[in-house]
Amino acid sequence: MVSPSPFMNLPATLTWNDDCLRILDQTRLPHETVIETLSTAQDVWRAIHELRVRGAPAIGVAAAYGLCVAAQRARHLPLDAFRSVVKEQATYLDSARPTAVNLSWSLKRMLRAADHAPVIDTPALYRALVDEATRIHREDEALCEGIGQQGRPLITAGCGVLTHCNAGALATTGLGTATAPIYAAQRAGIAFRVYADETRPLLQGARLTTYELREAGVDVTLITDSMAASLMAQRLIDVVIVGADRVAANGDFANKIGTLSVAIAARYFDVPFYVACPSSTLDFQTPNGRGIVIEERRDDEVTHLGGKAIAPAGVKVRNPAFDVTPHDLVTGYITERGIVRTPFDANLAALFGAAA
Ligand code: MRU
Repeated sequence: MVSPSPFMNLPATLTWNDDCLRILDQTRLPHETVIETLSTAQDVWRAIHELRVRGAPAIGVAAAYGLCVAAQRARHLPLDAFRSVVKEQATYLDSARPTAVNLSWSLKRMLRAADHAPVIDTPALYRALVDEATRIHREDEALCEGIGQQGRPLITAGCGVLTHCNAGALATTGLGTATAPIYAAQRAGIAFRVYADETRPLLQGARLTTYELREAGVDVTLITDSMAASLMAQRLIDVVIVGADRVAANGDFANKIGTLSVAIAARYFDVPFYVACPSSTLDFQTPNGRGIVIEERRDDEVTHLGGKAIAPAGVKVRNPAFDVTPHDLVTGYITERGIVRTPFDANLAALFGAAA
């Protein structure tokens, strides 16, 4: 199982081979490379919920193949019963995590493909589902490439780039979103530095972003989340690039908890703040950030570190996995079709409204 990009020496986030979904277990990285085979919709639901496969685009692709896994087990059913199982399992998979729109976006696409497939029997409908999931997968790779090309000019020789969480190759099936301009600049031979926030509580920055950037030979420095503003004050950061889980119609967006603090600091220190966003992460049905559902996760993700308690037993905890950054803190959205600047509502709709 190898990465789609010869540029990176990484195992692929997920693969579909011989009617089988395999994922790289991201909870074991960076110390162990464990590939897991997912054989039921429950396996896929749990893998998404437990962040073994994670990152908005990657969970969209995993859910599409997850529906194929569910459909495969119902292949003996007559066509109408098979269609009902597919609908029911799509609803089930969609409930694995609420915030990233890519999950429901890809499952809706799968259901549309099932509705429109000109098929007369169950095996043919199953093949149509696998074809659509494969298209979603290939498109995700292409979206990352596009973001890389559009965002590459933002990274210039000698500059410092700050990123938060992991919006990298591991969060997608291609070059990542926030990391795509980084990999494109690296490929172009530009010398620059990246600072990766560790990203409490689950440390996607420390465990995943530093791992994949180092594998690609990028000059990366790990910092704690609380250091970011101080680095900006020292003029070590020239540009911030983060990913997104859902971008509302007005340009407010949800991303990993802590993104809002980075955006506020960037505004204070006058550092450009960009959001890398494939069209699969745009949600024109949600008018603004107030409509975005934020996932709340288990207390022990905050009270424990590496399996060890770091807080008094029974302490009250809040653990929202994401926050919403208002659009007026965003300099631009790096999309596969170009960099979208303010006014975001009009400009996002002009570039993508018809497609959405
Ligand atoms: O909880 P996670 O690890 O799935 O959160 C991931 C993020 O917040 C990413 O920044 C976002 O999904 C964009 S990934 C290209």
